Amino acid sequence: MWIDLIVTPLAVSEDELRDRTVVVIDVLRASTTILTALANGAREVVPVSDMSAASRVASSLDPQTILLGGERNGSPIEGYHLGNSPLEYQPEVVQGKIIILNTTNGTGAILRARLAEEVLIGAFVNLSALVEYLRHRNPKELILLCAGWRNRISLEDMLCAGMLLDRLELGGRWEEVPDGVRIAHLLYRTYADRLQQVVASSSHAARLRSLGYEADLEHATRVDSVPVLARYHEGVIRKIHG
Ligand code: MLT
Repeated sequence: MWIDLIVTPLAVSEDELRDRTVVVIDVLRASTTILTALANGAREVVPVSDMSAASRVASSLDPQTILLGGERNGSPIEGYHLGNSPLEYQPEVVQGKIIILNTTNGTGAILRARLAEEVLIGAFVNLSALVEYLRHRNPKELILLCAGWRNRISLEDMLCAGMLLDRLELGGRWEEVPDGVRIAHLLYRTYADRLQQVVASSSHAARLRSLGYEADLEHATRVDSVPVLARYHEGVIRKIHG
């Protein structure tokens, strides 16, 4: 398996992702929220990149079946039913619903991978499920696409990518992989015993704490707590296992 890692979506063109297997990682919080919503019974999640796309999708669907969710700079969007805290996506809220999700970085990263052969949603909460699936599928070319924050690298996404790489093992061929893959793996190996503390010390964790979302940090770093596999295909994200 050939593997590469992209630290932020603008560092890669849609064409470079074409026909490859892509795992989109946005630990805080889009990936974690999507997985939590699907685990709690949402029918599907439609990722959109801006307000007008969200309105367009919403107006094409039965208003009874949809929930508009998302954030800008971490804060809920006025007029939307939900923000982007995974803890808002409880079974009694999302059961059977189509979630139209509009976030600052994560949903844009997913859309960037629309030409990929397969797009999977990755986070700490579904790490082992993802590793098992990738081992079984053994894709020829795998790209880990970190959402980052406004075209900058994010510590928590790199750490999660590093953990995924560590679990995939690669047969100890660490000298043969691209530098980004090595850096993420080294980062994880350095902090493997302090994941929660390191994520809590990241720039976006500080931003979320200042907005009152401390509990999201704990939820997002609970490894394997949402063992769901989710795939983005033809515009929607659906649960394929779990
Ligand atoms: C994003 O997509 O930028 C994030 O999920 C932001 C957040 O809500 O924490």
